[in-house]
Amino acid sequence: MIELGVNIDHVATLRQARRTYEPDPVIAAALAEQGGADGITFHLREDRRHIQERDVELLVRTVTVKTNFEIAATDEVVEIACRVRPTWALLVPESRQEVTTEGGLDVQNDSGRIAKAVAKLRDAGILVSLFLDPDPVQIEAAAKLGVEAVELHTGPYAHAAMPAVAHAARAAELLRLHEVGKQVVESGMRLHAGHGLNYVNVHPVARLPELAELNIGHAIISRALMVGMRDAVAQMRQILDQAVAR
Ligand code: PXP
Repeated sequence: MIELGVNIDHVATLRQARRTYEPDPVIAAALAEQGGADGITFHLREDRRHIQERDVELLVRTVTVKTNFEIAATDEVVEIACRVRPTWALLVPESRQEVTTEGGLDVQNDSGRIAKAVAKLRDAGILVSLFLDPDPVQIEAAAKLGVEAVELHTGPYAHAAMPAVAHAARAAELLRLHEVGKQVVESGMRLHAGHGLNYVNVHPVARLPELAELNIGHAIISRALMVGMRDAVAQMRQILDQAVAR
């Protein structure tokens, strides 16, 4: 069975658009669990654009499935992780300008800084996963750090799976995920994958034989908005009708 990690960052993105208390990602996490999520993923960014420290503390205390805390390899957030102790820490590169995480870590050229973060997290009893491009050189460097998992970046595959892109490009990206995924597992690490996956393009990735876990956010939050819209409007309609009837 492939484990499904649901990334709830964009529930917090919507809340922060008004700097208010709703929608609450903690409640969204509980509902995601009820829907069958095997894990809840959340990213505390340096600029705090969506998830806040309050969310991290409550999520780690209330989520009953695995928690996957996405962070940059900086002292500040590594210390927060060591204090709250999620099940997993997922190390990613981070830049303030990006709309979303744009590429994998460069473990090959930045191994000292990443190794320091990995050591602190593992000392705190947290499993560590590294977000990497499907590049054999990066996997080799990750294996040397002794991390428990690699999350392969599926963004290039998702981009190639768009309708306007030639089928061959998608097949090439899928093959790359398959071959590098095999290398991850043969090197003794768990294979996770994620980024840009949706209800249309996920199927071929979910069939990769070595895959243990997928992390999906934007598509699930987008779908949740759409399937909930009818009820949300009907409930407001009912309140207005009842107010006038009294
Ligand atoms: N994995 C990582 C490392 C991410 O940064 C993200 C996006 O926050 C995801 C998975 C999920 O990507 P998406 O929101 O496109 O499903």
